Amino acid sequence: MTTALSPARTAGPAPMPTAAPGPGGPSLASARPDPADLDPRRALRELARWRADGRDAARFPYRAVLGHYRAVGKNAVAAELLTALRAVEPAVPAPAEPARAAARLLRDWLPQVVDGARGDYDSYLGTPVYASLARAGAEARTDVVITALLADLVAIEAATLAAAPAGRARTRAALRALTAATGLVSGGPGPAPQLADDDPAELVRACAEAVTAARQAVPSSVLHAVELTLTPTTRCHDEQMFIRVIQIFEAVFAAVARSIAAATEAVAEGRGERARELLADATRQVAGTSGVFRVLTTMPKDAFAVIRANTDGRSAVQSTSYRTVEQTAPELYRTLLRSPVEEGELSSVMRELDEAWGAMKRTHWGITMKVIGQVRGTGGTAGASYLREAAEARLFPALA
Ligand code: HEM
Repeated sequence: MTTALSPARTAGPAPMPTAAPGPGGPSLASARPDPADLDPRRALRELARWRADGRDAARFPYRAVLGHYRAVGKNAVAAELLTALRAVEPAVPAPAEPARAAARLLRDWLPQVVDGARGDYDSYLGTPVYASLARAGAEARTDVVITALLADLVAIEAATLAAAPAGRARTRAALRALTAATGLVSGGPGPAPQLADDDPAELVRACAEAVTAARQAVPSSVLHAVELTLTPTTRCHDEQMFIRVIQIFEAVFAAVARSIAAATEAVAEGRGERARELLADATRQVAGTSGVFRVLTTMPKDAFAVIRANTDGRSAVQSTSYRTVEQTAPELYRTLLRSPVEEGELSSVMRELDEAWGAMKRTHWGITMKVIGQVRGTGGTAGASYLREAAEARLFPALA
């Protein structure tokens, strides 16, 4: 017999529960769930067992918890499960790796599932997990993390293609972005995707190949972290894409912020060539977002309305990395004026970064106009008019 368990928070409008899984409809995880995932009791039982067995972070029942979250949507998760997760305290790990890494991952991940109605942008996308990955160094460099995020996105989109052929445009765009990212990580151009054929089965096959190649190029620790950080608030298929796209942009913002900080240091020390390399890499990262925007433009308006209704207070206007880029760029220019590095040595690369950053902001504004028009943002700004003005602000106004 089942006991009715209460949702943690009243969800917004239900996402088209009768439609086929795919764009504009429910996610596969919520439309065809494992019946045991609809009920939180499996996760509650596994959590109780985990506590009784010594709270070893490496054995945390992620699968059972995420199974329920993804089947019902984070905003409809049972309050009892939320309470149990808020009480989770992993045992103090042995000082050696990998026990420490497992405990760190669990601590980084928990804010994403216990935030409930108090959630913000960071808990929406799992910022602490990605910040730890960035600190992990070369094995989780930005291109690697982006490849893992795209691989997951392509796998999700391809899985719904048979039932929802309308998803082809998005799947193709995501596949193109994945192939480019895998090429960067594995040092080659990557296998050319078979995109000419309009047959969905061909597309699914090309996706499977690309996902396999990408996953082989990414360390399992990164794949695992990426796998855990998908907790949509709704049952909407499109929210999964939205979260992956946001996570990719955040990885780029964080990389650009790090490059600007390191370039400022290099300039202060008179190492102009090093600063030039760092800024050129930042420009490459920002310019690379154009392929990801193509994925985002496949967002149906109605689906985004459901996502918006469920993510109030979780706006990217809160993004610390984005803000850091905008706030620290002027300091780079001021440092350049006082340093032995000639301004002319860096002015063109700085201008290129500024142009790429400005183009990214203008594209974002254009997509916002198409998807929500002139309504207010979830971060409380006027929305599109705020973004149009913000897109005009330059990183290095003196070079414009
Ligand atoms: C359909 C997609 C999207 C729409 C309709 C949209 C809409 C908006 C709106 C209305 C704002 C103004 C702030 C607010 O009140 O919330 C905003 C800000 C922002 N959005 Fe988006 N957004 C979308 C996708 C994205 C994605 C994928 C990212 C990637 C992280 C992103 C990053 C940002 C950033 C960084 C800001 C702050 C801009 C600033 O303060 O200059 N947005 N967005």
